[in-house]
Amino acid sequence: MTRPFPDGFRWGVSTSSYQIEGGSPNDGRGTSIWDTYCATPGRVANGDNGNVACDHYNRWEEDLDLIKGLGAKHYRFSVMWPRVMPDGTGHINETGLAFYDRLIDGMLERGLDPWLCLYHWDLPQALQDRGGWTNRNIVDWFADYTEILALRLGDRVKSWVTFNEPNVVAWVGHEEGRHAPGITDPRAAMRVAHHLNMCHARATEVIKSHFPDAPVGFVLPMHKGYTLPGRQEQNAHLIELFEAKWNGAFLDPVYYGRYPDLIMDRMEPHIQDGDLQAIKTKVDFQGLNQYFPSYIEPANGKAWPFKHAEPPKYFRRTEMGWAIDGDCFYRTMKILQDKYGNPPVFITENGGAFVDLPDENGNINDQDRIAYYDEYLSAILRATDEGANVQGYMPWSLLDNFEWAYGYEKRFGLVHVDYTSQKRTPKASYDFMRNVIKSNALP
Ligand code: FCB
Repeated sequence: MTRPFPDGFRWGVSTSSYQIEGGSPNDGRGTSIWDTYCATPGRVANGDNGNVACDHYNRWEEDLDLIKGLGAKHYRFSVMWPRVMPDGTGHINETGLAFYDRLIDGMLERGLDPWLCLYHWDLPQALQDRGGWTNRNIVDWFADYTEILALRLGDRVKSWVTFNEPNVVAWVGHEEGRHAPGITDPRAAMRVAHHLNMCHARATEVIKSHFPDAPVGFVLPMHKGYTLPGRQEQNAHLIELFEAKWNGAFLDPVYYGRYPDLIMDRMEPHIQDGDLQAIKTKVDFQGLNQYFPSYIEPANGKAWPFKHAEPPKYFRRTEMGWAIDGDCFYRTMKILQDKYGNPPVFITENGGAFVDLPDENGNINDQDRIAYYDEYLSAILRATDEGANVQGYMPWSLLDNFEWAYGYEKRFGLVHVDYTSQKRTPKASYDFMRNVIKSNALP
């Protein structure tokens, strides 16, 4: 007996510019904060960088064919801001813009719907030099960049994503410093969060001014907080604070025009009159990414009274060390249903890194990844059975790629990439996903 998805469920796949494109520093592309971060000794495993990555800049046709071969219809990709605007503002690099023009035409020729993500972490370094996300002027810079893309590409873009994971940009990039720009300043991170929310609203307005019917949303990896067995009661308030930081700080202002009370004292210094009214925006869909459950425990942190704890041993883990927990995924979908008015939800990322050893014929029989997908896709069925408005799924990721601070060590692809020859080899999980998509059902 197969387990069917709702009729009309939409299937796609996700990638991001810095992680696959390469083509650096070709054709007038400017430097991004990830170029700088990678060039800083000790930041990225093995000193890896995105200069070549999957060479998608040159091999994009083959990659679009792989998406078509998967049977996926929706493709979430991102635009590298400094490829289009090397200094972040002003000068437009026509060659860079033409790349995305061709790419989108290539999608349409293959029957794929372009889901354009404006920002998947590769800020122009020139803007970082002016304070980056901490500078309130970024609201105007981001609006100008959005307008350029809307005018040039908007006639063919199907759906717009303003931000991929603004919480990771703020907290991992500016508080923990494990991502570019590598800042460890909790107060600056709060300011960044507020500016990201303002940018989301402004960009939505810009897109809608040209294409009133274009669906616009943002992508959040929602974190459900857990604590170790036996400590639920004593840590309940920490979980609430943790979820306010990771989820509420980005959802509540957009959906309800306010920040969670628990973080208001931290946010207040950065808010100006009218900001919250401006941020409250109708989202046409909520992008949801999901990877792992977050276990926390008390800590005397610089800014927050909690820290991450190791999840219980009984969870299986991916190569990232991330606990595999479909039930946690189910619960995040339920939060959107119960607390945020059951918006249309698209799972914009979900997947696992595993050791993918090719057999003697070069094939990769990644049964562990297939089991992972089975567990997480089952969680969607459980949520939709209970009325959650989940309408589509895009696994992370089409290709093995540059996994940020882990460099090329961790592989998330449905398609294996040999980084020496750039040969692409679909894994067993690619066939699994193709069958799921074709039958709109789990086996
Ligand atoms: C997400 C990122 C994506 C990828 C996955 C594994 O947080 O959005 O680029 O790195 O994690």
